[in-house]
Amino acid sequence: MMGCLWSLFFENSGVDPDGSKKSGANCPSSAEIAHNGILEEKMENKKIILSGIQPSGSATLGSYLGAFRNWAALSNEYECLYMTVDMHAITTRQVPAQLRKNQLEQIAQFIACGIDPDENTLFIQSHVLAHAQLAWVLNCFTMFGELSRMAQFKDKSSKNAENINAGLFTYPTLQAADILLYGTDLVPVGADQKQHVELTRDIAVRFNGVFGDVFKIPEPYIPTVGAKIMDLQAPTKKMSKSEIADGGCILIMDKPEDIMRSFKRAVTDSETEVRFDQETKPGISNLMQIYSCATGKSFEEIEKEFSGRGYGEFKPCVGEAVVELLRPIREETERLLADKAYMQEVYKKGAEKASYIANKTLRKVYKKVGFIER
Ligand code: AMP
Ligand code: TRP
Repeated sequence: MMGCLWSLFFENSGVDPDGSKKSGANCPSSAEIAHNGILEEKMENKKIILSGIQPSGSATLGSYLGAFRNWAALSNEYECLYMTVDMHAITTRQVPAQLRKNQLEQIAQFIACGIDPDENTLFIQSHVLAHAQLAWVLNCFTMFGELSRMAQFKDKSSKNAENINAGLFTYPTLQAADILLYGTDLVPVGADQKQHVELTRDIAVRFNGVFGDVFKIPEPYIPTVGAKIMDLQAPTKKMSKSEIADGGCILIMDKPEDIMRSFKRAVTDSETEVRFDQETKPGISNLMQIYSCATGKSFEEIEKEFSGRGYGEFKPCVGEAVVELLRPIREETERLLADKAYMQEVYKKGAEKASYIANKTLRKVYKKVGFIER
């Protein structure tokens, strides 16, 4: 199987079958070819998962329970590519030093959450040039009206009225490029991102309709467990890394005493009973959800455990469970971040592996649309 794949690769690539390399920015290096043949073989046998997270802030308990933890669980069964999407992040203004720090922290957190960088591909989006290159082509296959209808664009442009830039508008075509470059089968995302994956499918179907079977059509993969974690101070709002000022948000890297303080101050209601009811008791229901995710206990078990004990006892217990849940991840993240050489090795190797596959898709697309090979 590899033999035929390799000949296909030689046919479309910048590498001659005798191993000599033609010129051109998208030609893989010999190092890329060496260990990416292995990745390619694995991708033949396993379904491919790809996801990304914006390094626009420090990851929250919500990001952990809603994304990282699921990503780690999937990483044993599928061939997974996970990236920190720095190019998406600059669609809103970032402080450069903080952006760099957040990217490294995310890569370290992927590993600390249990994603093995040798078995999966962890990388920084801007390190794989094909993302920007394919995004341009996809822009020409995406309609203005489609992008105008994206809920995230409407939401972000109403929140950033002074900076409604073209990148914010074409954000979904870059995301489509992220996904389509790797022949992705499944895209694990929160429900709010489903629309972008659906647009990706529409773009891919449109492109394939013109040029034949170029892109695999991906599916969104929305976790049914893990639910949405709400802000501790405003429990009808999603816990978000962009709103961390008032203690309503827990960060993976928060110190135990800060976590405990936030949980003790969490907004509840005027009753005293620990009971799940999202309509009338959003604060307590959110705390029960978090406690359930941290301990594996069901809502019934939690209601029984805290029956007659009141909120004053319940809140610190949730805090302690979260402290213990996050402690190993925070400690491992700190340890990894201190090892700069290792971190660099991980993201360089990740980008090399990803580039190999991405460039293959890009070459095919360039050829199809009529660009002349360099
Ligand atoms: P964000 O951190 O907002 O860029 O979101 C990245 C991914 O993390 C989303 O697609 C969700 O899957 C997950 N996520 C972020 N915040 C939460 C939350 N409060 N509850 C559940 N999942 C979340
Ligand atoms: N847009 C996603 C978010 O805001 C992040 C993202 C970028 C992504 N590229 C992706 C998610 C590709 C899945 C696949 O959460």
